[in-house]
Amino acid sequence: MTEQTPRVAVVTGGARGIGAATAIRLAADGFAVAVVDLEEAAGKDTVEKITAAGGRAIAVGADVSNAEQVAAAIERIVAELGAPTVLVNNAGVLRDNLLFKMSENDWDTVMNVHLKGAFLMSKAVQKHMVDANYGRIVNLSSSSALGNRGQANYSAAKAGLQGFTKTLAKELGKFGITANAVAPGFIATDMTAATAARVGMGFEDFKAAAATQIPVARVGVPDDIAHTVSFLVSEGAGFVSGQVVYVAGGPLD
Ligand SMILES: NC(=O)c1ccc[n+]([C@@H]2O[C@H](COP(=O)([O-])OP(=O)(O)OC[C@H]3O[C@@H](n4cnc5c(N)ncnc54)[C@H](O)[C@@H]3O)[C@@H](O)[C@H]2O)c1
Repeated sequence: MTEQTPRVAVVTGGARGIGAATAIRLAADGFAVAVVDLEEAAGKDTVEKITAAGGRAIAVGADVSNAEQVAAAIERIVAELGAPTVLVNNAGVLRDNLLFKMSENDWDTVMNVHLKGAFLMSKAVQKHMVDANYGRIVNLSSSSALGNRGQANYSAAKAGLQGFTKTLAKELGKFGITANAVAPGFIATDMTAATAARVGMGFEDFKAAAATQIPVARVGVPDDIAHTVSFLVSEGAGFVSGQVVYVAGGPLD
């Protein structure tokens, strides 16, 4: 990468939670950031935080599982910020249920957002990275990739993202592009708050119960993941590729 190479990062699902913290962190690291989320308006809050801190960002509305919307989003990002050299595939949804109650729609929705979304975004962005002979792709996996009750769809998608990541690392390495996955454990966000509500627990009790199972004796916060992504997308991390970094406050079984 040269000084002329645009430092432009795309963060999907950047309106809130881990994606918002990552977008804000990458902006602080000096990237112009495209905050992609389902609705453009949803990303405004993250963009305002970035610009208030002196950074540069735009909110872009796109469903990552829709090829046309992805193509239009990348076209707009290239026109307004420049060609992206960093992509964080973070957009995600849960449709938890035990296998016997899981609908085909629950399965398809989770596969489409996590797996197809990461595929479409990576495919659209990689050509700009190849042109720049430089790139960093980070995919959000999960500790659930190791298997989690009630998450047949989500665990399969998050394990699938690990295989996808390793394949991108092998295919794109010769173009100066690395691909890595971050696999968070319990991170306090709207997603885990919704899980607490679904199982009928208050979020504070839910977090306290989770913390008893975590070696560092606390649940994670979005900045824990943003910090790890910041490292993986840094220029100095160019020899780290195809890895899955579990960020879970301890080792997992
Ligand atoms: N919170 C956790 O404990 C945890 C643990 C492991 C992995 N993760 C993963 O980290 C990522 C972020 O999780 P979070 O907790 O911040 O979730 P969140 O629900 O707080 O935020 C997810 C964001 O993704 C957006 N999104 C959903 N579908 C989209 C689509 N089709 N196109 C564009 N944007 C879309 C949502 O609008 C939302 O802004 C997800 O991939 C999640 O699976 C989270």
